[in-house]
Amino acid sequence: MKSAMERISESRKSGTNVAPGPRGLPLLGSSLSVQRDTLGFFDAARTYGDIYRFKLLSPVGILTVHVLSRPEYVRHVLRDHQANYRKSGAYDRLSAVIGNGLLTSEGDFWRRQRRLAQPAFHRSRLALLGKTMTAATEEMLAQRWEAAARAGTPLDLAEEMTRLTLTIVGRTMLSTDLADRSSEVGQAVRYLLEYTDRRIKAVAVLPESVPTPRNRRFRRSLKILDDLVYTLIDERRGQGEDRGDLLSMLAAARDEETGEAMSERQLRDELMTILIAGHETTAAALSWAWYLLSKHPEVARTMTAELDSVLGGRPPTFDDLPSLPYTGMVFKETLRLYPPGWMIARIAREYDEIGGYAIPKGSRVAVSPYVVHRNPALWENPEGFDPERFAPGRATGRPDYAYFPFGGGPRKCIGGNFATMEATLVLATVAQRYLPELVPGFRVRPEAAISLRPKDGLPMILRSVRTPSRS
Ligand code: HEM
Repeated sequence: MKSAMERISESRKSGTNVAPGPRGLPLLGSSLSVQRDTLGFFDAARTYGDIYRFKLLSPVGILTVHVLSRPEYVRHVLRDHQANYRKSGAYDRLSAVIGNGLLTSEGDFWRRQRRLAQPAFHRSRLALLGKTMTAATEEMLAQRWEAAARAGTPLDLAEEMTRLTLTIVGRTMLSTDLADRSSEVGQAVRYLLEYTDRRIKAVAVLPESVPTPRNRRFRRSLKILDDLVYTLIDERRGQGEDRGDLLSMLAAARDEETGEAMSERQLRDELMTILIAGHETTAAALSWAWYLLSKHPEVARTMTAELDSVLGGRPPTFDDLPSLPYTGMVFKETLRLYPPGWMIARIAREYDEIGGYAIPKGSRVAVSPYVVHRNPALWENPEGFDPERFAPGRATGRPDYAYFPFGGGPRKCIGGNFATMEATLVLATVAQRYLPELVPGFRVRPEAAISLRPKDGLPMILRSVRTPSRS
């Protein structure tokens, strides 16, 4: 890392400036403010402008972080100059769980792996998965929601959505039923994410190998998932059967030059990545959708009217999706206000300049869908929940990268279409039967963890909806 003097002389040389920003405390920088109220810190820091910088104390030393909030700066980092920005910090911590899979790998290796995984997310494949998604949702309603609705007992919708999306990713990508082992696997996944989140935010951490109670629980939880994934790999390789899922696709993949199969470890890392990345974010997004619908009954009414007229009480299918534009818009608007991937962080490989400000080599750059999606210069009534802003024709003139819940450029989310389809089908299946209402008096607070999610869960009461076929 360069000293402050070197950086200043570097920026003077090129006629650029050091970006403004909060001074923070000596040594700690803004670490305490960020830890105390992460979203509040980013909200307040907006006043410094479209680029600001602050200091953070981390286990690897003091970091300089630049936050960029103009769409063209976002495009600069994620797309136009993406080669200069590698994935950073938080991803290193996540690697302890998911290893060197698609989310964390870099360079030619990442490119090859992405090419191998891409067909599993092709539209023609997705079309085959709709039934599984709807069936899993209906099982959830039959097994848990009907009784809760009858008894008037609140359910934690954040928990319900996590269980559901984990089941769906297990069935669609690995052809396995994680619901059978949902408590064990679900708890292990939850602990691993919680543990990783704590370590991302910590100013100092002990290595995972030190046998503290948390580290021991971390290793136990990781072993539960490892055992599951390695068993699935062994079974599939033993059978040599093509189940048409991601696991079969990656197990059968051969290197173009050497003809070699992927190592067990690499296959494990890719599957673990999909298991984690493929459920937590979608669960958070669906939770926020239920929360917003309960706060905006007029939006919920418009959505259920669409579901009534298109589906009339039957389960939605993949082919129905184009006929459910409003439900899709509700999901898009949810992702605008509460983007689960709320912060996308990179490290500058080399010195760069953005908007006249110096971005020194080795400094951190963060682009935040949460910040950009609520920027009043880009969005009218930015804090309001208005799905109509995604109506056809309404996006005209909105700059590229004003909206990027799935990131952008070559590292854009591989599961964006999968998640959108899944969420729309889940919303359409559930909202024909129930509209959850927030338990009166419960205060929902967003928590900016690995994903942006409701901090203390989302207790909701299920209200039955009368659909044409049932009335
Ligand atoms: C609403 C749901 C989702 C949101 C908001 C979301 C968001 C994101 C974002 C912002 C990135 C880019 C991260 C970066 O550039 O640093 C990303 C990458 C990724 N996501 Fe998603 N995601 C969602 C669902 C999914 C699903 C369902 C899957 C898989 C089934 C998935 C798998 C991945 C993978 C593998 C990457 C890394 C891609 C690469 O670098 O090649 N995501 N996601």
